[in-house]
Amino acid sequence: MTRLDGTVALLTGGARGMGAGEVRRLVQEGAKVVIGDVLDEEGEALAAELGDATRFVHLDVRDSASWAAALKATHEAFGPVTLLVNNAGILTQAPVDATDEADLRRIYDVNLVGPFLGMQAVVSDMKAAGKGVIINVASAAAMVPMPMLAAYASSKWGLRGLTKCAAIDLGRYGIRVNAVHPGAVRTPMTAGVPEEMFEIYAVPRIGEPEDIGAIVAFLASDEASFITGGDFVVDGGMVLGPLPQAG
Ligand SMILES: NC(=O)c1ccc[n+]([C@@H]2O[C@H](COP(=O)([O-])OP(=O)(O)OC[C@H]3O[C@@H](n4cnc5c(N)ncnc54)[C@H](O)[C@@H]3O)[C@@H](O)[C@H]2O)c1
Repeated sequence: MTRLDGTVALLTGGARGMGAGEVRRLVQEGAKVVIGDVLDEEGEALAAELGDATRFVHLDVRDSASWAAALKATHEAFGPVTLLVNNAGILTQAPVDATDEADLRRIYDVNLVGPFLGMQAVVSDMKAAGKGVIINVASAAAMVPMPMLAAYASSKWGLRGLTKCAAIDLGRYGIRVNAVHPGAVRTPMTAGVPEEMFEIYAVPRIGEPEDIGAIVAFLASDEASFITGGDFVVDGGMVLGPLPQAG
């Protein structure tokens, strides 16, 4: 597949889980991918496995200096960035009144400030090229409220809003910005979640990282050239709610 030939991607949180699935799919489709993550060992191993089309760079999305270094590394390896995938994210679970302030700030920093800084880092490359794609990985929890997720979900609702504002600000430069909203996907983030609980939804299974890689590759491609500011829910029907019982 060559749909993404010529694409130079910077993808955060790509060392494992969903991000690693996205990296694999982008590479299959012809992209060069810089994997940014704080998990150096896993990130280096994935880059070594995938070979010349990838590099690993240590990137802490909370830190603008770290973004500048990742951008420099991307330029040196492959050239200007044409695709940014803000995939890195963290989760904690607690009811709103029991959410620890430090956890709340940490979640907002990684899940919302991180993508904001990432967009700021790459936009000059994209403006100079007159085109670019930004994909923000939010969550089905940014579509419907879910219990025990006040901090996480509000960070993802924020990312959804940021996506739409950025789409408006950047469209005139040929830059498209979209949000992907996964349901439950089999990654370290969902380790320990019993899979039977997904049997109540329209597609009665947990998602796989490949399910998200597929939509990311589509949105990154020219096939999506008229799509910006959109919400792409990839959740097997979770936000529709449990299947109604017959009768
Ligand atoms: N797994 C799910 O069911 C699910 C559902 C909806 C949305 N999501 C979202 O998908 C994305 C990927 O999640 P996942 O399930 O693969 O989780 P994961 O924990 O397996 O992977 C997240 C990655 O982000 C990296 N990361 C964390 N903090 C970082 C930082 N400060 N800088 C750079 N990288 C950092 C981690 O090291 C890790 O590699 C996240 O944004 C998550 O919120 C996941």
